[in-house]
Amino acid sequence: MDNEGLIKAAEKAMENSYSPYSNFKVGAAVLTGKGGIYTGCNIENASYGATNCAERTAVFKAVSEGEREFLKIAVVSSAGDLTFPCGICRQVLVEFMPEGSIILKDKNGAVKEYTVKSLLPNSFAL
Ligand code: THU
Repeated sequence: MDNEGLIKAAEKAMENSYSPYSNFKVGAAVLTGKGGIYTGCNIENASYGATNCAERTAVFKAVSEGEREFLKIAVVSSAGDLTFPCGICRQVLVEFMPEGSIILKDKNGAVKEYTVKSLLPNSFAL
């Protein structure tokens, strides 16, 4: 699966975003070491803190199905601009894909790739 294919899967997942409070839709698609793809969207709640980001939805779906090895995650949003994972999601990405990368699409449609490590240097670990 190339980066464009993963972005497309994230864009499709974004259609399921449940975001009546922010109206900010996010979609994510994570590629496993076995070549499978798991997708997720943001899921908001009237109690705002209960909201789950698209990245964590995708990773948690995969982990709950027994997946443990992840290579890349694509993230897109309705803002159309680069949408970088929040701090909590970065910590989750370090947990499950410390050697992985994050793929984002900019306003002009150009795909950018960042290592997970570069977006959360000196991360907490036990
Ligand atoms: N959101 C994500 O899904 N991923 C991120 O990395 C940043 C924020 C969602 C959470 C909330 O539903 C909305 O975007 C606005 O914060």
